[in-house]
Amino acid sequence: MFDIHAILQCPKCRCPLPESLVCPQCGTRYTHGFGVYNLIHMELSGEQEYLNREELTEDYLAQFLSDEKVSLSTEVDDYYARMNKETLDGFAAQDLYVRKRLHALQGTVCDLATGGGNMLQLVLDEAPADVTIVCTDISNLELAVTRRKRCPARENVYCVATDGRYLAVQDSSFDWITSFAGFGNIPDTEKVASELYRVLKPGGRLLIKGSYIEKDSRSYALAESVGIARGMVEEYLLQDLRDAGFAKVQSTVVAEAVWAENPYDLIPAAGDLQRFCVIEAVK
Ligand SMILES: C[S@@+](CC[C@H](N)C(=O)[O-])C[C@H]1O[C@@H](n2cnc3c(N)ncnc32)[C@H](O)[C@@H]1O
Repeated sequence: MFDIHAILQCPKCRCPLPESLVCPQCGTRYTHGFGVYNLIHMELSGEQEYLNREELTEDYLAQFLSDEKVSLSTEVDDYYARMNKETLDGFAAQDLYVRKRLHALQGTVCDLATGGGNMLQLVLDEAPADVTIVCTDISNLELAVTRRKRCPARENVYCVATDGRYLAVQDSSFDWITSFAGFGNIPDTEKVASELYRVLKPGGRLLIKGSYIEKDSRSYALAESVGIARGMVEEYLLQDLRDAGFAKVQSTVVAEAVWAENPYDLIPAAGDLQRFCVIEAVK
């Protein structure tokens, strides 16, 4: 029987967390509410742009769950509506490729940067129903909303708000890690790659959807200015995964498209080429 408390740790001290969620070493009091363990240490992650700084309450969450107000999902719908056909076809090709791979999932699966839950939904649709899913994201708000929208009744789905660079998870906890756009949104790609390696069990596997940009592009300059460029260039990302210790690192580009102007996106820049990829690797 899976016990979430058996895998949690203080992201700062890296010592196991008791059920009280008070770190025995540094005394930090972490919390649990609205189905989400909030294991963010502000000294490590306080500067992160996606961090939710509001207190979660039923009223606050209701704003994002209501259909009448602009919700997280309405924005996502609008975002996709502004994409060109090649881009939508690219995402569809990526999903098709990943769906076939997801049948092999077993044991405990971590989804990195779960956000609005596109990848989570694929896992829910395709993976065996008995896998345990641990959704992670720096935003406890995203996790609370996504959990309620995507799988309110499913018991073996847990949510942990944690920084991908300092995962609040003990070594060798997961059989699989999935992600869509984790690399490309979380800064410090080398740190993220090392953390993914650390929290996978020996023999554990990565299955990641992402997109590549070109090194000499405007998108690259923009990505570099916010610290996410290495996670978006094929050569660098694969190198960082190998340097972290991963074996059998395989990158498959399933489609490419010129990015259309989209007010929601800083990156890629409109007019730049984007290559849709799936990365697989083994610890
Ligand atoms: C574009 S979304 C990812 C899409 C999502 N995986 C899906 O399948 O729909 C990017 C996510 O990265 C998360 N994020 C940003 N910085 C992070 C960090 N340092 N650690 C963990 N998650 C982070 C954001 O909160 C956001 O939810």
